[in-house]
Amino acid sequence: MNILEHIKQELPWLDGNTVYDLTRGKPAPEQLDITENYYSKLSTPYELDGIDLRNYGNPEGLPSARELGSKILKTNFDETHALDNSSLTLMHQIISCAFFLGFKSAKLDGHSKIICPVPGYDRHFKLLENFGIEMITVPFQKDGPDLNTIEDLINSESNIHGIVCVPRHSNPTGHTFSDDNVEQLFKLIEPLKENFSIFWDNAYACHDIEDTIQQTPADQIAKKIGLENNLFQVGSTSKITLAGSGISFISSSADNLSKFIDFRNAITPGPNKMNQGMHVKYFELVSIEQQMSELKKIIKPKFELVDHILEPIKDTGLCFYEKPTGGYFYSIDSAKSNADEVVQTCSQLGLKLLPMGSCFPYGVDPDKKNIRLAPTFPDLASLERCVTIFKNVLKYLN
Ligand SMILES: Cc1ncc(COP(=O)(O)O)c(C=O)c1O
Repeated sequence: MNILEHIKQELPWLDGNTVYDLTRGKPAPEQLDITENYYSKLSTPYELDGIDLRNYGNPEGLPSARELGSKILKTNFDETHALDNSSLTLMHQIISCAFFLGFKSAKLDGHSKIICPVPGYDRHFKLLENFGIEMITVPFQKDGPDLNTIEDLINSESNIHGIVCVPRHSNPTGHTFSDDNVEQLFKLIEPLKENFSIFWDNAYACHDIEDTIQQTPADQIAKKIGLENNLFQVGSTSKITLAGSGISFISSSADNLSKFIDFRNAITPGPNKMNQGMHVKYFELVSIEQQMSELKKIIKPKFELVDHILEPIKDTGLCFYEKPTGGYFYSIDSAKSNADEVVQTCSQLGLKLLPMGSCFPYGVDPDKKNIRLAPTFPDLASLERCVTIFKNVLKYLN
């Protein structure tokens, strides 16, 4: 019997038709139902903060939506703008602005190189690749990006113009950067501050599911070291309210924000203020803490289930992972350099996973070991089957 036949015999519920999917970090319908439940109690606002929400204008966003953003990102109100759906779009626009107009201390061109801690977020890497920006990978240390490797890079490479980070519950590894790591990182960057962009994507700023260390707001550390014009923080409500219809936030220095508005004025005559107004009213009804605690009740059992199923094979050395304390992903390293075969075999059994290398720039995982699991979308019963398929494949292949 080959591996597939063995596993089919062990898992008699595999019917060859059902599709199991752990590819994308999407909220489950039950999470969205929580939001819909409160959302449906709200009436559409047409005026807020003395502003006519129906009209063009207010390129920096509604004051009360900016207030919400500054609470989520732990940034200053004055330095936080509230914009449209998707922080990824904002990242794209910030990079475009750095490319085409240039910020005071953050300019990109065809020779720019960006430091990318890996494994990381596939869409960040695709975005940078689309701009022709060279990505240089660095590994993680326990509490953030590996500083020795970054120091070596800064000393040996020219045209290093930035770094892209997900500082809390990093996608997919779950790393949360310590204050010490951030301070040391920023000190390493300081000599390059004439032209350096720190892309700080705080997509999981308030997405703890277990106790997680507190972090000093990055802008406070940046200001202490004189990097306030280099730091671009983004975030959104995508994984707090409605993934496809949230609002996003950018925080940076006044100078950078003013340049960014200038750039965006040629993209849009103003953000969707009615959606911003809905979000402001939403969080008058439900606090951010209450919302996150209700979401956690759905997400936490899924993360525990993954760990419960995989821990025995981790203990026997067939794979390695750190249990994340929040965010949306598990990052698993197979014990052998066979991630491709694991993904292909899972696919033949009906389980879709991201292709090998997805969490690396240019799709190249040099160790050929890393596999990302996104456990939030399926219900518990389906997730149990997904992870069981994965576990059995690892057992046979390793
Ligand atoms: C690190 C990171 N940034 C951004 C996003 C997308 O966020 P948004 O919906 O605000 O574009 C995701 C989604 O998976 C993510 O993991």
